[in-house]
Amino acid sequence: MIPSSLAWYVARSAGLLAWMLLTASVLWGLTLSGKALRRPRPAWQLDVHRFLGGMATIFTGMHVGAILADSYVHFDLASVTVPFASAWRPAAVAWGVVAVWLLLAVELTSLARAHMPRRLWRAIHVASFPLFLFATVHALSAGTDTRTWLFRFAAAGAVLAMCGLLAHRMSSRRPSPRPALTQRGA
Ligand code: HEM
Repeated sequence: MIPSSLAWYVARSAGLLAWMLLTASVLWGLTLSGKALRRPRPAWQLDVHRFLGGMATIFTGMHVGAILADSYVHFDLASVTVPFASAWRPAAVAWGVVAVWLLLAVELTSLARAHMPRRLWRAIHVASFPLFLFATVHALSAGTDTRTWLFRFAAAGAVLAMCGLLAHRMSSRRPSPRPALTQRGA
């Protein structure tokens, strides 16, 4: 049996790594979709985005697995899959549970992208923004290390960077073409 303190350390460190990788993936994805980078894009730029998302999913799996293995606070399958089913700080954990469902939706549809209608893939992919917000609120409300000023500073920086990149992307979006003017009455 895994000692409870080891499982707890694994849960905390994997949670922090998952959050950092997720943040990096969303920020890099936003940078790629904006107009700041030269086009056509070299393939490695998208590979980096995919790699960060994949690693975030793996570390989230480690985080949740270690939470289940920790015998100090009892977490069963329902408490890690159903929002508010956890007896331990139900609201703080619920943010994480919903974040995991969103992460799975974004990650699995990214893997199946070539076989999906582009509009549907896009509609699901924008769930990355609520995913990042839910994971951040979860980390701030459930965590031990996240009570430090260092994490709070990093989280505030990530949220600001996200808002800046979103604003830049919306302002640089091409206006939709106007309907052609008819010659009649001109
Ligand atoms: C089923 C979903 C989840 C459950 C049940 C869960 C559970 C927990 C629990 C119990 C803690 C408190 C650990 C402690 O005592 O410090 C925690 C902290 C944390 N979680 Fe989650 N979590 C989930 C999903 C996520 C996701 C999706 C992320 C990010 C991608 C995440 C990132 C974090 C971080 C960064 C911490 C703070 C670690 C610390 O400060 O010690 N969690 N989580």
